[in-house]
Amino acid sequence: MNPFTYSYPVKVYFGEMAAKNLAAELTNAGPNVMLAYGGGSIKKNGVYDELIGILKDAGKTVTEFTGIMSNPTYAKAQEGAVLAREKNIDFILAVGGGSVIDCCKIVSAQAKLDKDIWELEYTDHKQPTEFIPMGAVVTAFGTGAEMNNGAVITNEEKMLKSALWGAFYSFAILDPAYTMTMPMKQVISGAFDSLSHSMETYMGSPREVNLSDEINEATQRNIIRNIRATLKDPQDIQARSELIWAAAMAENGILKIGKATDFQCHMLEHQLGAYTDCNHGQGLAVLHPVLYKHMMPEANHQFARLAAEVWGINPVGKTEADLAEAFVDALIAFIREIGLPTTFAEMNISADTDFKAIADSTVLTGGCAKKFTRKELLEVLLECR
Ligand code: NZQ
Ligand code: ZN
Repeated sequence: MNPFTYSYPVKVYFGEMAAKNLAAELTNAGPNVMLAYGGGSIKKNGVYDELIGILKDAGKTVTEFTGIMSNPTYAKAQEGAVLAREKNIDFILAVGGGSVIDCCKIVSAQAKLDKDIWELEYTDHKQPTEFIPMGAVVTAFGTGAEMNNGAVITNEEKMLKSALWGAFYSFAILDPAYTMTMPMKQVISGAFDSLSHSMETYMGSPREVNLSDEINEATQRNIIRNIRATLKDPQDIQARSELIWAAAMAENGILKIGKATDFQCHMLEHQLGAYTDCNHGQGLAVLHPVLYKHMMPEANHQFARLAAEVWGINPVGKTEADLAEAFVDALIAFIREIGLPTTFAEMNISADTDFKAIADSTVLTGGCAKKFTRKELLEVLLECR
């Protein structure tokens, strides 16, 4: 196990009616609150009315920052920062999925900075140190974005979808009831994203059995089981409770303790997103099996463990190579079973997309069992068409 320090700044309020804790949290916040949300799902399902009521009862002056799109753009985060400054915002309440939650991390940092945050992080290699405090209300699970300070932002000018480091949320409200109106397509792609985070963490080093990986195996089994349960009964709030917490678990640092993580699939998918604005979980579903085939035989040891411990494949009489193949086959069968795409064509990603530019701009990760070249990443992308 690698040396580590573990400490976590995000307080989680989990469960139905978790929002009642919001009133208590708001007593610590200043008077001017930014209520940030996406395209309006919270207005249709009653979450907006409930939260605005709590904010008004707490005597807050509310400024709304709306229209945060999926795959939030850098321009949108800048728009939020200008608004936050203009309205002298003391506290940001982000309500939504990963996109709203990420965008607000950058709003919170940029509003306190004179310098452009992209330049600060990517040219000066510095990170922001001052932030507007924030709380998150999760209405769509999957990314676990509420648990970390990384914000995945699309810089349309630079054609990059990259991580910027912003603020941690001081609290996150995880109420499974708020997720009941998520479109099933988003439920499944979000939950697959959580599975991907777990796999990408698992695939890093060290490669021998360790506690983080054993907790990770249980998390993966849980996600797989509860995706199936949710598909069988979309009203199964118990299954959604498990999925919302599993998403948080995959990103709250516990699975990463003592590990260098992989995340090569994510880096590739993010650049695919920069060029196509595709759905994150769907992009991962197409890329994972193809990338994993390219990671053989280097990653066979961990693939074999996943085959036996997560996918229930009997290892008796099988080599690591057999098990690795069986793992990837099981993953593909599962992706098909839950209705996720297995080709770019199914995602309406044109075969004419500039895949070379995507491969050339993808971050090559240090934790991946196989050190990919850009040429191999291009092969992966072309095989996904
Ligand atoms: O915008 P509204 O109208 O709210 O609709 C949203 C959106 O269309 C809808 N939705 C959310 N809650 C709902 C609901 N619809 C009905 N009922 C509800 N309760 O869901 C749609 C998708 O939301 P979005 O936030 O875009 O999805 P997701 O949570 O998958 O976030 C994706 C973004 O997060 C990034 C992705 O790259 C992508 O940009 N990620 C962030 C990570 C992080 N910070 O840790 C890690 C991930 O790997 C990922 O990269
Ligand atoms: Zn992800």
